[in-house]
Formats: sequence, C-alpha cells, structure tokens
Amino acid sequence: MRLVEGPSGRKYNLAFQQSPTLIMPVSEAVGTHPYLRLLGIGLFGAVLCFLLARNITQPITRLRAAAGGIASGRLKTRVDPTVRRRRDEIGTLGRDFDRMAEQIEALVSAQRDLLGDVSHELRSPLARLIVALGLLRQASPEGTPEYLNRIAQEADRLDKLIGQLLTLTRIESGIESTQREKFDLTNLVQEVAADGDFEARAHGGEVKVLRADACTTLGVPEILRSAIENIVRNAIRHTAPGTSVDVTLERITASEPKAVLQVRDYGPGVPERMLRDIFVPFHRVPNQDESNTHGAGLGLAIAERVVRLHEGHIQARNAANGGLIVEIELPVHGITV
Ligand SMILES: Nc1ncnc2c1ncn2[C@@H]1O[C@H](COP(=O)(O)OP(=O)(O)OP(=O)(O)O)[C@@H](O)[C@H]1O
Ligand SMILES: [Mg+2]
Repeated sequence: MRLVEGPSGRKYNLAFQQSPTLIMPVSEAVGTHPYLRLLGIGLFGAVLCFLLARNITQPITRLRAAAGGIASGRLKTRVDPTVRRRRDEIGTLGRDFDRMAEQIEALVSAQRDLLGDVSHELRSPLARLIVALGLLRQASPEGTPEYLNRIAQEADRLDKLIGQLLTLTRIESGIESTQREKFDLTNLVQEVAADGDFEARAHGGEVKVLRADACTTLGVPEILRSAIENIVRNAIRHTAPGTSVDVTLERITASEPKAVLQVRDYGPGVPERMLRDIFVPFHRVPNQDESNTHGAGLGLAIAERVVRLHEGHIQARNAANGGLIVEIELPVHGITV
C-alpha cells in the first residue's frame, strides 16, 4: 500500500497485490521450467569443464615453456613455482623436470669450466715459449733457420686457438645484464666493413656496404663486433679473386622490428648438407685437396653463440648464382637518428 498524489492534487491510496506464482526464487523457476533446468545444468557443466581443462592445460603450457627454454640453451630455466607446488602428478612432473634441469646445468658448466681451465693453463707455458722464440731470433740476427719460423708460426696458431677457446667458454657462461648496453649497430657494421675493405684491398678485393639502415640494439658490442669480423674475414678469404664481399644491413619493421645483416661473397659456397655444420666447433669444409689449414673452425661457432646471446638468429645459405650468404637477425631497440 502506498499514498500517491494525482495531477489534480487529490491523494490516493494505491494497493498492490502480488501473485505468489509470479515472484519466486531462481532455483524454483529453473525447477519448474524443464528447458530452463536443462540450460542451467548445461551452463554449470560448461563452467565446470572449462575450469577443469584450464587446471590441466595451464600447468602443461608452463612445463612446455620451461622445456622450450632448456632446448634453446637457457639452462637456468626452471618450471613456474605454481606448477611445482601442486600435489598431483603434474606437480611431481614439474619437480622432476627441475631436478633434471639442475643436473644438466651442473654437467654443462663443469665441462665448460674444465675447458676454460685447461685453455687458461695452456696459455702461460705457450706465452713463455713465444717469448723464448723471440729471444732466440734476436740472438741469431744473421738469419733465422726455417724450422724456427715454423715453430713460431705454429705457436701463434696455438695462441689464437686458445684465445678462441677462452672466448667460447666465456660466452657460454652467459652475459650479465649489467654488461649489456644500447649501441649503434649500423656504425659497428660500417666500421667492421671498412676494416675488412682495408684487408681485402691488399689482395685485390673489396668489401662494399650496399645498404645500411639505422639500427640500434642491446648487447655487448665487443663480442658482436668480433662475431661479425669473423664472418667478413671468412667471406674475404673465400670470395673469388677480383670479386667483392657485399654487406647489407636492413631494418625490418614488423610487429617486433629487427635488423637483418647479410654478408655475401662470390666464392664456392658450402655444400648444402654442411650449411648447419659450419656453426659447430671445429667443423671445416675440406678444400678440393682435402686441406683447410686457415683456421681452427671456431669462428662461426663463436658467432652463433654470440648471436644467440643477443636473442638473435644466424644462418648460412648458398646464393642462387654462387657464393655464400651469412645472415644474422637481431632484435632492434629503437632507431638511431
Ligand atoms: N664464406 C664462406 N665460403 C665458403 N666456406 C665458408 C665460408 N665461411 C665459412 N666457411 C666454411 O666454414 C668453416 C667454418 O668457419 P669458421 O669461421 O668457423 O672457421 P675458420 O674460418 O676455418 O677458422 P677460425 O674462424 O676459427 O679462424 C670454414 O672452415 C669454411 O670451410
Ligand atoms: Mg673463420
């Protein structure tokens, strides 16, 4: 019952009569209408299935992400704590996965430490040997015997090899985030190409920069420089006499912008089946006379790890009209102006 006022100012008493069948709890409404009841059960089932499926797929997706991390060489990757805390089989699997990852990391780092220690220990006696050789040469200024020159040459090769092994082990133990800095990739590529051009001109070749878009990236410039230097040096060594080495740096604007560096030569290329192997330590393509005495076969292996540490990707392919193209993709962090 409510008191209301009419348009003429007269007052009325308004009385409502509720029908008991019109207003009822939802549960009763669903209960009385068979379709509504079915719909309710269906909805409840759907929500339950969704929650159950999510409960299973979510931790599996997290496990997959951790497995992906280990597979791509990030050995510090561990399963998300929410998966490990579970008291079911998925939780057990997560804990087992972490134990396995710890074992792999320990094994790999022990192996790496051993390689680093051995290389380091070899360096000191070798340095003394090189000094002694220099003194011997000075002592007999009238002419150094041929075999002494040979010993000096081999000692220099050993020194370079040990230096490369030390670099490899250092890079494999990762880069601290504090070592990373934003730097001008375009400038770095142009400097390496200019140095390469200087070297190539001594043998009648040249290194040309055909394109150099403005790119900056995040990382350690010194190690990236030596990786690119090795690729340019390889190209200078293999390109046919009188031909150039072509360098291009392109900025690709996609959802995640990236820099694509290509170093191309006009040499014999690499047999298709060995295009991946050349990134494995000590893998070299034998020459026609089964020799390849230029280097140890570590340059591209180091380059591959350096690029991976910069969240990039490196690959080699043969150009349609001869020669090798080595391509590096790196994430771009802002544009240089
Ligand atoms: N541009 C190229 N054309 C043809 N073959 C190449 C080219 N670049 C590399 N290779 C092949 O790949 C192998 C591996 O290259 P990598 O740079 O790792 O080692 P390397 O140059 O032999 O020695 P290092 O770089 O350790 O001094 C080379 O030995 C060579 O056979
Ligand atoms: Mg090399």
